[in-house]
Amino acid sequence: MSVPQPIRPVILTGDRPTGPLHLGHYVGSLRNRVAMQHSHRQFILVADAQALTDNADNSARVRDNVVEVVLDYLSVGVDPDATVICLQSALPALAELTMLYLNLVTVARLERNPTIKAEIQMRGFGRDIPAGFLCYPVSQAADITGFRATVVPVGEDQAPMIEQTNEILRRINRMAGRDILPEAEAVIPRAGRLPGLDGRAKMSKSLGNALSLSASAQEIAQAVKRMYTDPDHLKPSDPGRVEGNTVFTYLDAFDADVAEVEDLKARYRRGGLGDSVVKARLQAVLLTLLEPIRERRLELARDRAAVLDILRAGTAQARRVTQTVLEEVREGLGLFTLPG
Ligand code: TRP
Repeated sequence: MSVPQPIRPVILTGDRPTGPLHLGHYVGSLRNRVAMQHSHRQFILVADAQALTDNADNSARVRDNVVEVVLDYLSVGVDPDATVICLQSALPALAELTMLYLNLVTVARLERNPTIKAEIQMRGFGRDIPAGFLCYPVSQAADITGFRATVVPVGEDQAPMIEQTNEILRRINRMAGRDILPEAEAVIPRAGRLPGLDGRAKMSKSLGNALSLSASAQEIAQAVKRMYTDPDHLKPSDPGRVEGNTVFTYLDAFDADVAEVEDLKARYRRGGLGDSVVKARLQAVLLTLLEPIRERRLELARDRAAVLDILRAGTAQARRVTQTVLEEVREGLGLFTLPG
């Protein structure tokens, strides 16, 4: 027996509500989600349970950012009529799937996950790794399979999570003797990851090198001003390096006028083009991108009840979907089913 497939492929992504979403999220995933929401069946998870895995002492931070993240989604163009926005901790089926999946993964495999490894290092857990943190790839597998998602738009650091998800679901399908769960594919932006304002590989609020999507004109100006360029480009007349120059990386990511950017690059390389000229262009480009997002966000934030309604309705819908998947997985794994 094969499971009937929905007509549109299913997208599932999520974000930890630990702070305002930033440009890195936009390039890494949000932009893709907005672009794909009408051709796909899209679910977006506010991953508050996952956020607790490294914020157990800080639940207020997680709680207070739930509505903020929903506002970020809506203001970048996620359409609540096309996309289901839901709250992870209000979906018990996901927690149940996580419990079942934990038996299909070894601790050694979890410790080998390169993203988990790097994050353990970065957070300085030492030997005191919260078990929930080590196991969050399993909960993420529950998220993805709980919606039968086949498309997962994420940054490249999340690819190992999708790989682990597929290992788990293959095992379930083998145990069930039929394809209960479809394989998932990560959709990683071709442009790669957006570096932080300081030129470091990753933009992250905790690294202090992020520009939030709700930044004001003044914050944008300040951020661009302190952006990393070519440290050897001291005078405008000096020839400058474009590779690894964050300002140019951003222009590549956001400036629609590719020919103009190529021209600026050539002039910069030759010498005779000052950082301030390139930065002024980037500032204008970012302002054009972010100003409407910020205005929309201010508008939406005025009606908090409407935002909560969107989240409530989305969560109710997600509860039905995930509950159905849970029942099929329980059956596939051969669990005892109480009659009645
Ligand atoms: N781990 C993801 C991040 O930190 C957030 C997330 C939770 C997620 N559940 C997910 C992403 C499911 C994709 C699919 O960005």
